[in-house]
Amino acid sequence: MNPAKARFFDSEVESDWSSKEYDQDELIKIERILEAGSIREGSRVVEPGCGTGRLSLIIAKRIGPSGLVVANDISPMMVENAEKRLRGSSNVRLTWGTIEEAKLEHASFDTVICHNVFPHFDDKAKAVLKLRSALKPSGVFVVSHFMNSAGINDLHRKTNPAVAADFLPPADEMRKIFESAGMNVEFVHDDENGYLLKAIA
Ligand SMILES: C[S@@+](CC[C@H](N)C(=O)[O-])C[C@H]1O[C@@H](n2cnc3c(N)ncnc32)[C@H](O)[C@@H]1O
Repeated sequence: MNPAKARFFDSEVESDWSSKEYDQDELIKIERILEAGSIREGSRVVEPGCGTGRLSLIIAKRIGPSGLVVANDISPMMVENAEKRLRGSSNVRLTWGTIEEAKLEHASFDTVICHNVFPHFDDKAKAVLKLRSALKPSGVFVVSHFMNSAGINDLHRKTNPAVAADFLPPADEMRKIFESAGMNVEFVHDDENGYLLKAIA
């Protein structure tokens, strides 16, 4: 656990980027993310760094009662807010802590969605290995951002010392991280529509 990072995200719990409902443009991007992750009725999904649970709620509705979302976050305040938002969703399991240390059933999930969180993993290779081990064979791993990597890296650099070094690695490095964990990267889109990587276990 990185306490400075957890404290920083605690302080961001009421900021627009973490609490405001998604706008139309963002909802279009969310659809692309769910499509890339093949999220459907009954899907079992891991969502690290869920923040206040906005995406978790959308996924929970999409997968229905036969599916499961396992969501977590290192920020107690984010988890507290996500708990409120997800109170009525019996198909969500929400925990506090790093995803690197979370308990995840081996080979039992269809999809991992890292939305707006991947740069914040202190050990990216370790996090990917851990999450890959939770995926079923042919499970899907998605890394997504509303902004492209240049925008994300610039934002983090300027935002706060706790996240100033949290970068989205270049595409060739991302491919190496995923291939070393036994996955094939199907695509990396990094353009004016944001960032979207899809890998298959
Ligand atoms: C930029 S926010 C995005 C939150 C949410 N996914 C969203 O899009 O609104 C990143 C979140 O990841 C959490 N986080 C950072 N490192 C983490 C880790 N190693 N494991 C789990 N959560 C983490 C932070 O506390 C924060 O809430």
